[in-house]
Order: sequence, then C-alpha cells, then structure tokens
Amino acid sequence: MGKGFFISKAVGIAAIIVGAGALATIIALSVVYSQEKAKNNDNVLPTDGGTTSKPPVTTTAPSNEPWDKYRLPKSLVPDHYNVTLWPRLKQNLTTGLFIFTGQSTVEFVCAEETDLILIHSNKLNYTKRENNHLASLTSLGGVKAPSIKSSWLQQVTQYLVLQLDGKLMKDHRYHLHTDFTGELADDLGGFYRSEYMEDGVKKVVATTQMQPTDARKAFPCFDEPAMKAIFHITLIHDLGTVALSNGEEKESSNVNIEGHDVQKTVFQPTEKMSTYLLAFIVSDFSFINNTIDGVLIRIFARTPAIAAGQGDYALNKTGPILKFFEKYYNSSYPLPKSDQIALPDFNAGAMENWGLITYRETALLYDETFSSNSNKQRIATIIAHELAHMWFGNLVTLRWWNDLWLNEGFASYVEYLGAHEAEPEWNVKDLIVLSDVHRVFAVDALASSHPLSSKEEDIQKPAQISELFDAISYSKVTSLTQNNKLISLFSLQTYLAEFAFGNAGYTDLWSHLQMAVDATGTDIPETVSNIMNTWVLQMGFPVVTVNTSTGIISQKHFLLDPDSEVTTPSIYNYEWIVPIKWMKTETIQHPKWLKNESVSGSDWVLANINVVGYYRVNYDQGNWERLLGVLSTNHVAIPVINRAQLVDDAFNLARAKIISTVLALRTTKYLNKEREYMPWESAVGNLDFFYLMFDRSEVYGPMQDYLRNQVTPLFTHYKSLTDNWKNVPVGHMDQYNQVNAISLACRTGLRECQNLTNQWFNQWMETKLNPIHPNLRSTVYCNAIAAGGAKEWEFAWSQFKNASIAIEADKLRYALACTKQPWLLNRYLEYTLDPNMIRKQDATSTIVYIANNVIGQSLAWDFVRARWSYIFTQYGGGSFSFSNLVNGVTERFSTEYELQQLKQFKEDNAEVGFGSGTLAVDQSIERTIANIKWIAENKQNVLDWFKAEEKP
Ligand code: BES
Ligand code: ZN
Repeated sequence: MGKGFFISKAVGIAAIIVGAGALATIIALSVVYSQEKAKNNDNVLPTDGGTTSKPPVTTTAPSNEPWDKYRLPKSLVPDHYNVTLWPRLKQNLTTGLFIFTGQSTVEFVCAEETDLILIHSNKLNYTKRENNHLASLTSLGGVKAPSIKSSWLQQVTQYLVLQLDGKLMKDHRYHLHTDFTGELADDLGGFYRSEYMEDGVKKVVATTQMQPTDARKAFPCFDEPAMKAIFHITLIHDLGTVALSNGEEKESSNVNIEGHDVQKTVFQPTEKMSTYLLAFIVSDFSFINNTIDGVLIRIFARTPAIAAGQGDYALNKTGPILKFFEKYYNSSYPLPKSDQIALPDFNAGAMENWGLITYRETALLYDETFSSNSNKQRIATIIAHELAHMWFGNLVTLRWWNDLWLNEGFASYVEYLGAHEAEPEWNVKDLIVLSDVHRVFAVDALASSHPLSSKEEDIQKPAQISELFDAISYSKVTSLTQNNKLISLFSLQTYLAEFAFGNAGYTDLWSHLQMAVDATGTDIPETVSNIMNTWVLQMGFPVVTVNTSTGIISQKHFLLDPDSEVTTPSIYNYEWIVPIKWMKTETIQHPKWLKNESVSGSDWVLANINVVGYYRVNYDQGNWERLLGVLSTNHVAIPVINRAQLVDDAFNLARAKIISTVLALRTTKYLNKEREYMPWESAVGNLDFFYLMFDRSEVYGPMQDYLRNQVTPLFTHYKSLTDNWKNVPVGHMDQYNQVNAISLACRTGLRECQNLTNQWFNQWMETKLNPIHPNLRSTVYCNAIAAGGAKEWEFAWSQFKNASIAIEADKLRYALACTKQPWLLNRYLEYTLDPNMIRKQDATSTIVYIANNVIGQSLAWDFVRARWSYIFTQYGGGSFSFSNLVNGVTERFSTEYELQQLKQFKEDNAEVGFGSGTLAVDQSIERTIANIKWIAENKQNVLDWFKAEEKP
C-alpha cells in the first residue's frame, strides 16, 4: 500500500493548503482613460476649474515634492466627511455635457505637524473660495487655522494641493471645505452616467464605480484604503427619482435650490469605511424587498425588469447567503440594509460597495425564459462573492492595494461556499478546478507570471493598481485555501474580530491561521507562514513527478515553455512546500505530511486526489500506461475530477515537453465512453489549443474526423436522454455537458447536429417564436449564424437590439461573432467602437469573440493595431479590459510573421502605452514564441496520430 507523504523544499510534494479559486474573470481596469480625457475636458466644464497660484500641471520628470508622489503623506487622517452631490440627468444644451456639482467638508486630524494639505482629486473643477483659493480651511477647538498660501490641482498624481502659511498642529482637528463640479461622463468610472431606453424614451442613471482609485473623481478625498472615515452623504435629485447610497435613507424632502424644485435625500452616516467602497446612485428604478432578521434586503433594476420578475431570484438567494456568511464569519452583518442594483452600463461584473452592491444586468437579473443554468450559476456565485466582501474586504480592509490578491482571492474562494448554500444540488465546489485552478495554471506557467504578493512600493500608480486585478489575484488563492486545514473558521473569525473597521495585511491573516493551528494541534511540517510564503512570494507552481519505478518523488518549477527564461529570482529557488494526497489502485490514501516515503510497484498510482493541491503531476511512463489502461477499461475507478485533471496535466506537460504530445492525445481516446461534464470540459479546453494552432492547417481535417467520432456517442446520449431534445437534463453538470455535446458535435461537422441547430434557428426566424432552450441558445445561435449568411446575421442583430433582458442580448452578441462572412465581421468590429451599437462595457469582449473565430482572427488583430491609440485614449481603462483584449486577439499567434507583427505593435505603441495590458503584451510575445516552437515540433506527429486514429 502506498502512502501520502510530505517532502519539504528540496524533494517535495504537497497537497495541503491549496485548492479552490473563484470564477475569476480577468479584470484589468485602468484609469488612464480618465487621466487622458481629463486633460481635454477640464477646460469645458461650466465652472472655473483652473489652477491658481502655482503653475504645476506637468508631465515631465517627477521631482521630489510631496505632490509628485502617488502615496499620501501620513500627516493628516480623515475622521468624517459631509458630502452633498447633485448629478444632472439632463444634458446641458450649451456645453453638451452632463455634469454634477458638489460640496464637501472633511474633518481631519493632524497626526504630524505640516504646512501642506494633499487630498486626492481627479477631473474636478473647483469654485474659488476665500482669497481665490480652491478650498477653505477652518479649525476646531478655538485655535485659528493657518491661511492658504497657494492652491492648485496636480493632475498627474491627482491631488488638490494646498500650501499653508503656517503649520497645522499635531492632534488638532480641521475642516476643509470645497465646492466643485465634475462631468457625469459615460466612462464607467467615478461618478458616471448610464443610459437606456424605456418605452422609446432615453433614460439616464447617475451611478458610481470607485474601486480602485476613482472616488477622487466624485469628490476630494483621502483616497487610500487605509484612510477610513465616516461619510455623511446627501444627494440632490429630480423629483420622483430614487437616490441611494451606502447608508439608509434618513430623510428626504422637496427643496428649491437655485430656482429648481428638487428632492434632497440625506443618508444615515456610514460605518467607518474606505473611500473605494462608496456608492451614490440616482435613477427611477423600481425595487423589490424583504427583511431578514431586521436587515432590509432590496433588489433594484429598471422598472420593466423588476415588473417581469427578473430580480426575484437574486432576492430569494440573498437572505440565505447573507445568513450563511454571518455564521461562517461568526459576525453579524453590520449594516441595517443590503441593496443590490443592476445597471445597464457597468464595467466589471459587480462591485461590493458596502450596503449598495452594483452589478451589470447579466450578473443579477434572472429570467427563466431567457437565462441558462450557467447564467443562474453566475448570479448565485457573484452575489456570494460580493456578500463575502461585506466582511472580508469591507469590515476588514487590506492596508494597501498590493494585498488586493488576498481580498479578491479569498472572496473568490468563499463564493463557492455561499453559492453551494444557495444551490446545494449543483455541487459547484467541484467546478473550482475548471474555473480557477486551470485558469490560473495557464498564466502562472509563464516565465512572465508574477508572485501573488507585490511589494507595497511597487504599486503606486492607478494603472499599476488596476493591473493587479488579474487571474493570479483572483484564482490562485483559492488553490491555497482548498485544504481547510489551515483556513479554519476559528482563525478567520478571530482575524475579523481583531481588525473590524480597520485594516490588515496578509501576514496578519497568517498569524491568526497559526494561532488556530497551534490551538488545534494540526500537524504541519513548518509554520503557516513558511508554508504559505513559498506559494505567495514566488510566482508559478511545481510539477510533481511520481516515479513509480524508482520510487522517487520530486518537484520542479513548471514552465509552459521550458526554454523561457525566468528572470525574477526567488528566495525559495522555485521550490514549494507541497502537501500531497494520493491513491493507489482504488484505495484513497489519507493525506499525510510524511517524509522520505516512496511510491513504487506495479499498481497504478494517482496523485493529487480531487486536485486539492495547486500543482501538476507527472509519472513515469509505466504508470502513465497503467493510468491510460484504467481509463480505457474502467474509467470510473478514477475520481471524476482527476479524470479531468489527467487530461489537463497530460496536455500541459506535453506543451512543456515533459511528456510526448501523443501521450496527451491518448488521454482523449476513452472519451467516447465518458459522460461526465468535467473531463469533457477539460478536454474541450485543451483541444481548443489544438484548434487555435491547427485550424488554418492540414491537421484540421483529420483532427475533425477524430473528434467527431469521439463526441458522437455523447451527442447520441443526450439525444436519447432528452427524448430527442425535448426535455432538459436534470443535473446541473449534465445540463452543462449537453451544451458541450452540441457545441463539439456541430463544431466537428456532425451533420445531424448542424441540421438540428439550423432548423431551430430557422423556426425562430419564421415563426418569431424562439423554440431554443436558454441553456442551448449561445451555441445554437453561434452555429446557425456560422452556417448562415447576412439574413441570419441581420435577424440576430435585430433580436440583439430589441432584447428585453441583457442576458439574451449577450448570447446574441457572442453568436454574431460566429459568422464566416468577412464583411459582416468587419462591420461588426466597427460597431464595437460605437457606443450606440455596442455598449462600452461590452466592447472588449466582443472584439475578443471575433478574434476567436478563425475568419475573424486577422480582422480583429488588424482592427486593434490600427486603432490602438484611439482605443487606448478614448476607451481607456475605465471601459476596456486591456489585458483580455491583448491576450484575446493574439491567442492564435503561432508564426514568425505574427511574432514580428506583435513586436512591432509593442514598439509602435510604446509611447501611447498599454496601461493595464502591459503585462499581457509580454505574455503574448512569450506565448507566441512557445507556439511557434510547439508547432514546429509537433505538427507532423499530431497529423500522423489523427490520421492513424481515423483508420478503423
Ligand atoms: N471588487 C471587484 C470588482 C472590481 C474589479 C472593481 C476590478 C474594480 C476593478 C468585485 O468584487 C469582483 O471581484 N467582481 C467580479 C465578480 C466575481 C464573481 C469574480 C467581477 O466583476 O467579475
Ligand atoms: Zn471581488
């Protein structure tokens, strides 16, 4: 019998702490747009926003002045703010702009004597106050405040700067008053506007997205997460509209301001909180509500959406998930209400503003007739994710953005626990491996990856902060939390209790984990921090090789391209403390921390059971053969998650030249007997790489023939399971796999599948009644549009434009990219930069959809490189996820010629820059180089293998 074992750094294996991640969407927002656009817009704002007294606004070499540094000095600490904001939802006909005006008073304490006030401010124009300065200062407690000597706006570092003619005194309190105006632009950042049509009338919503650094675009504030304060918010808004903010409504009255009859809504003061979690919204949305243990829960959305019941699912699930987290954290929800709102324009998926969570419509609104099971799962998990932040992130906040990974990574893990609570039948936790582990493996295997933790001093500029919202931050921590041994409830609860309403860093969490380990006597080989640091402070992950012929188990940094050069040194020499759990011939061995164990013999051995460890596994050839044997004779002997993992490991080990590509392909041979979702999904994901590499070459035909044969039994299985496609499979995973069956069958050219999808789509076009089940719509639409021409495309476009729910529009938007007509694709590309056609929030993903299409690939690439500077300056970080875009349009790159183009692109745009896509450009170059080599080395083998498999 084999055993689990532990080998520490030198020859180690591991499987402990690691685990699940979240559905992490790569989100890389940048704020460059705001900065760029600010330069142009500041002059046209209606009130005087000029600078006074000092020349500054300079983009040249940074000096050492405090206002040239991105971080605030520690001299002033905010206590509370009184902020009144008045967004105008009607365009000013003279300027053509939408604006907001505001007044703010911030009370701060002077912690160190200083004659300088720096407070964040971006794209705000100030009305001059006493002595023509941009702000005025008063002091509390009898002493006289020094007067302002000069005041100006420092655009690069986004400050309002006030130089005083005397010192502020330590421990004294002061009030800083400002009156300001900003543009309520459609740029998805700060205080911005969202528009939609209702009954033929254009409606405007004023809403906010502050994280990470855009609160300063709404009012002057100490805009760093550790500068927590209490906020007293008042909103002025048109009669009959609804005003929302983090706090409960305290009072609302009709008032006349400057000759306008308006409504003034005052909110209860917030808890002590960070600026990035603030939210202000004015709309004429409707809501539904319920109350759970005294907490008011409301769902807001466009009135027709609420009337159609599209908020019901979210309302029903929020209460139970909130209750679950209260128990999980042993901490009651600290606010009297929890609002959630679906916005027509929203850049991310959702944002955890404390007490007022904002969503894009597709992430909150559910409608049985339009939403797929996957849409439903996304809603449940995203609600859980944001509610998890109410404690982890909002109550206890990371000190600085370099620790963002802990905030997002942790929420991305517990979202599975919350979603499981909401939908216990789904087994969502199993999906961690596909959605997070595989996702982060893909980027963390590159030499251009980065450690989870960054140094505080390396993260300064807004674009650097935005770049942190990537797959590593979102999905890697999950891998380190899966094994609940260390993340025990106790430690989390004490951590939250100690730091409530304050800030902490990841080392504080490790201390609490260590306390829990000590208290429970958990057996681990080293301290929590020694174990965790090997995963957190160095990038990448190991491949663990289990050699059953020698008995030796070893680890090595896994690099997708073994020839790539790792230029970042690691204090751990790219070795990890790896916990391991494994099985031998159907007997699962209990995970252990053992040393000097060996694994040998003639039985088959399988390591990393259920993929609780964040590492890949390789075996000696003999054991690989034994495992292939089990797959072909009795695949169910291997746990389903490991079947998925064997396929994924094999394909990736082959890409890294550790095993042969033919061995990887052989793991797909048993698939004609496989009915489970996870192994299929894993295979499809890996075969996608083959499609990307070969769909323009002679390998394509034989590959199609092989895969068609493999998937036909699955297609037939679902056909009979659903009684000729009339019923819906019962299980959640089965529903997913039905989609795989149809997608792959149609993709590989199975005639019956193509007929089926065409027939459904035609029926819809003719009868105007859609016969297609929501689960199947994306793939059916895509296949029918690919098979059709302009008529099908135009029909889908008109359905897209008229869709009553964003979730349906999204399926069509995806499918419209599937046409094989270059002129339609080119026209569609043009639409992506016209916000009247495609909302800004959707522009990136639409271009990437087009690039995924073999016909659209080069069109999308040409489009992006021709328009880069336009896209970058006009769309900027506020509305574009640049890393997704760059990775997306270069995914298929695999020729020397494409590599040269990519390098040229980098060079040509060096001046414009890539913002949050900077890293993605290097990753794409690295990937392209690896692809070129991979094709050179593998094409012939792969072709021969597929051809041989075709023969009976
Ligand atoms: N805090 C983020 C939203 C965010 C991301 C704001 C990037 C600013 C920049 C939020 O908690 C989040 O992570 N949302 C995810 C959803 C989640 C289920 C992974 C999103 O928006 O996709
Ligand atoms: Zn989050």
